[in-house]
Amino acid sequence: NDNQPFVEEVCINDIINSHSTPFYLYSQKIIKDTFNNLKKNLSGEILYAVKANSNQSILKLLKNCGAGADVVSVGELERCINAGFDSNKIIFEGVGKSEEDIEFAIKQNIKLINVESFDELTLINNIGKKMNKKIKIGIRLNPDIDSHTLEKISTGNKTDKFGIELNQLDKIILQIKSSPNVSLDGISCHIGSQIHNINTFKKVFETMKKTASLILSKKINLKYVDLGGGFGVNYEENQNEFDIKGLGELIKSIFSNEPYEISFEPGRYLVAKAGILITKILTLKQNGGINFLITDAGMQTFLRPAMYHASHKILPFNQIGKKTTYTIAGPICESSDIIIKDIKLPYQTKDNFLIICDVGAYGSVMSSNYN
Ligand code: LLP
Repeated sequence: NDNQPFVEEVCINDIINSHSTPFYLYSQKIIKDTFNNLKKNLSGEILYAVKANSNQSILKLLKNCGAGADVVSVGELERCINAGFDSNKIIFEGVGKSEEDIEFAIKQNIKLINVESFDELTLINNIGKKMNKKIKIGIRLNPDIDSHTLEKISTGNKTDKFGIELNQLDKIILQIKSSPNVSLDGISCHIGSQIHNINTFKKVFETMKKTASLILSKKINLKYVDLGGGFGVNYEENQNEFDIKGLGELIKSIFSNEPYEISFEPGRYLVAKAGILITKILTLKQNGGINFLITDAGMQTFLRPAMYHASHKILPFNQIGKKTTYTIAGPICESSDIIIKDIKLPYQTKDNFLIICDVGAYGSVMSSNYN
């Protein structure tokens, strides 16, 4: 039947018959194709930002495609080790790491630990001394460049908690030089998520190149420059796709014969479009003239609409019947548990299924036990 929804060669109805809703469903092919296309266009290492989706099968798939990993917790690091990632291709960042976290990461012999504060640098040096090791570190810089994205997912303004301000670079290098148990191997940055404008990246790349040159001029053997993630994804139907080819050309024009390796940390771009969420309509009700569809998926399953007012495309299984305006809401005892307001769908009834689209990134990982 042509009207039935498929993911790759699998009919979703067949899965619904054997699994209870709500559930996430992923396409390996989309992830693989997206990774290969990214790899083809960007000259540099791709370190998948595991926070976007740490599903064990997805990690294995990306590892087999040749990705490295960017982790922000010991939990994510353990998942990457279980998925078989080469520890030499894993970096550990995050604005707050405990002593136990850092010790664990050092024992795994990972590529870099990215430092985000002076206190953390002192801590890492002390741990290195205790373990009688020289620890490879990077500095996460805060380039103070506005990503023009949603306030809640912007990270690169100097008033954000992330990274070390550029005007403190000299000071942190001084501290590194007097820390015998660390070696400065890299710098990194990440100014936010969902960035569509190539010019924003241009500013970031130019700043990073300048900073790298400055560090090299101080007789430090800088090996890695990490340019972060944040590549935009289209959630709306008629937006332009992110210009990955343009980004690739930009990188080539800025970094040509530099003595360091370039890397990126994309999360969303690699997995967002590969995931859907299947939900069942539990009940219909009218309050204040609004037609509510109450679904079994809500903010406990998928937080983005409630947290960021993110809008995701909805596809109904039932395509026949008069178009009606609905507000789709989850079952949670919070008024903000709304998936989408005022959407026109063919008439729906209890027990119909809906598909929430493009939920592969920051979907399942942000689900909770609430209620
Ligand atoms: N690197 C660092 C240091 C990051 O903090 C992030 C994301 C990434 C890389 C990957 O960024 P991406 O390529 O995925 O844009 N939960 C929010 C997004 C939070 C992003 C946090 N950091 C959402 O659902 O929109």
